[in-house]
Amino acid sequence: MRFNTEEIAGSLCCPDDQRSLRSNDGTLRCCHCGRVYPVREGGILDLLPSKPAGSPANPEYAAYYHFEFYRAFEPREGANPWGLRETQSPSWRRHRERQVRTVLSMLRRDEARFEDRILGDVSAGVGDYTLSYARHFKWVLHCDLSIDALRYALARSRRMGLQNVFFLRVDYFALPFRSSIDRLLCLDTLIRGQDHEKALLNQIERATASEGRAIVDFHHWWHNPLRRLGLLPQNFGNNRSYTRSGAEGLLRECGVEGWRLVRFYQEFAPESTSLKRISWLLPATRLLYEFGSAASGHTSRASAETDFSTTSQPNPSDTARGAAKIWYT
Ligand SMILES: C[S@@+](CC[C@H](N)C(=O)[O-])C[C@H]1O[C@@H](n2cnc3c(N)ncnc32)[C@H](O)[C@@H]1O
Ligand SMILES: [Zn+2]
Repeated sequence: MRFNTEEIAGSLCCPDDQRSLRSNDGTLRCCHCGRVYPVREGGILDLLPSKPAGSPANPEYAAYYHFEFYRAFEPREGANPWGLRETQSPSWRRHRERQVRTVLSMLRRDEARFEDRILGDVSAGVGDYTLSYARHFKWVLHCDLSIDALRYALARSRRMGLQNVFFLRVDYFALPFRSSIDRLLCLDTLIRGQDHEKALLNQIERATASEGRAIVDFHHWWHNPLRRLGLLPQNFGNNRSYTRSGAEGLLRECGVEGWRLVRFYQEFAPESTSLKRISWLLPATRLLYEFGSAASGHTSRASAETDFSTTSQPNPSDTARGAAKIWYT
């Protein structure tokens, strides 16, 4: 679809000063500082702050972040954004599909109707979540820093004929939302170290509407303890994983309360009955948390079918890290 700046101006704000934006001749303009935010390539609104808003300590992520932040919209050969289905194994794709179904079941848990709601994904990548969920929502705001990921998802959305997905180039350390997102997703992203996770969680809280909810996930340390301890070859780069107590400590430090935990097991389909029987034996792959004012009143004990454990586990190494790759496999 053509990018209609008038339609979404009211859901956005200036990433530099959080003031309102007005639609102006196919661009958006900040009412306070006057900065103009253009639409690139007919479909991607460039909403980056005037300078990088984050200062991540993780050196590999910092290199990626600065490279992507300063990249211009120029043609690039051989672009290969993270998470391209075409480059992944069948088991990776199966796990990914299960994750997408699990998150959808979390979104739909209270049988709320979303036709008048906005879904925002602040690190949406190639669009596995946003594009699958678009038909349930009024609008979807697909946000990412990577031009390659945005271009890829935009082309995919055009092929799918979707008319309600807006593509925004953002820095998630300075999100252009002020309590305007009804359902916010941030998946496979709280993996860069505590300073990064805290800065991002604070932005997520500010972006979520007062009656809204956010869903985030953490890689679970116990899914891969031998790899984390270096006793088996590790395959997750230097991405950070968390025990339940570590993840919940972070949430508390960021002022998040009343979350609901859903344990995701990639080895089983979310609706599997075997999963229900034996999941207490298995460490979850991901710890998914849902929080926000609509979820308040829930405690960290889960109620969904994908959550079976009620005990906290010990925390042998919250600092386990690997080396190498930027994105995990
Ligand atoms: C591991 S990928 C996960 C993508 C998606 N959530 C998924 O699960 O398919 C992380 C994404 O975060 C994006 N990203 C990294 N730093 C960012 C930043 N500062 N602002 C916005 N997006 C960022 C990357 O470009 C990448 O697409
Ligand atoms: Zn401004």
